[in-house]
Amino acid sequence: MSDNRQDQAFIELEDVSKAYKMGDVSVAALSDISLEIPRGEYAAVMGPSGSGKSTLLNIMGGLDVATSGRYLLEGVEVTRLPDEELARIRCRHFGFVFQSYNLFPDLTAIENVIVPMIYAGEATAHRTQRAAQLLDSLGMGHRLRHLPSQLSGGEQQRVAIARALANDPDVIFADEPTGNLATAQGQEILDILEGLNERGVTIVMVTHSESVAARASRLITMRDGKIHSDQAAVTKA
Ligand SMILES: Nc1ncnc2c1ncn2[C@@H]1O[C@H](COP(=O)(O)OP(=O)(O)OP(=O)(O)O)[C@@H](O)[C@H]1O
Ligand SMILES: [Mg+2]
Repeated sequence: MSDNRQDQAFIELEDVSKAYKMGDVSVAALSDISLEIPRGEYAAVMGPSGSGKSTLLNIMGGLDVATSGRYLLEGVEVTRLPDEELARIRCRHFGFVFQSYNLFPDLTAIENVIVPMIYAGEATAHRTQRAAQLLDSLGMGHRLRHLPSQLSGGEQQRVAIARALANDPDVIFADEPTGNLATAQGQEILDILEGLNERGVTIVMVTHSESVAARASRLITMRDGKIHSDQAAVTKA
């Protein structure tokens, strides 16, 4: 990514549609979505089940590809990049956090956080030290050698956030990151995300909770694969 960050849109979708083929039938998950996310934004995405929130997030995160339309990242058309280049962008610039944590079950907390740094080609000593530091900064310094099954949900999500931060991403894509957590644990995760946003990390977060969405600075709502509303959040808790 370039350092020329002034006037350029960061994430930009133009008339993006996504259809899934199911035998003879085509399921329209997204229809003509146009959307800009400026650098540094904290955007929440809400909408009924099946309205296309995860599909939108996965396309923005380069985990899935649009059927039609354009996706520009800092002015570069992502859909035209070779697969290796897209993988490199995902690895170096994007972090992902999911509702079900998606940790590797056979790896310890610290090993889970090290994985993206292996892909990024970081030196062994550096990545071990950085993984420990990240986990420590998220209050997990005493759980480095625990397996995911030996951690609570909130603790697993902290490990997932540490893993998302491993390569110092510009954007975190979070799909219902507090969906499986009790309120107090969820608040702690939101505090962490908010702190990251204050340090300049762009956040796009899908949520079903209005109180969670109220903490973002922008609320995008979806219906039937389309953007239903898009506005600066009225309240910021
Ligand atoms: N791999 C797939 N194959 C076929 N259809 C899919 C696929 N993934 C999603 N869909 C369909 O696309 C639509 C949007 O799905 P998506 O997962 O984006 O919804 P969502 O808003 O995230 O819902 P939820 O709140 O339940 O997570 C749904 O109708 C879904 O059934
Ligand atoms: Mg979803």
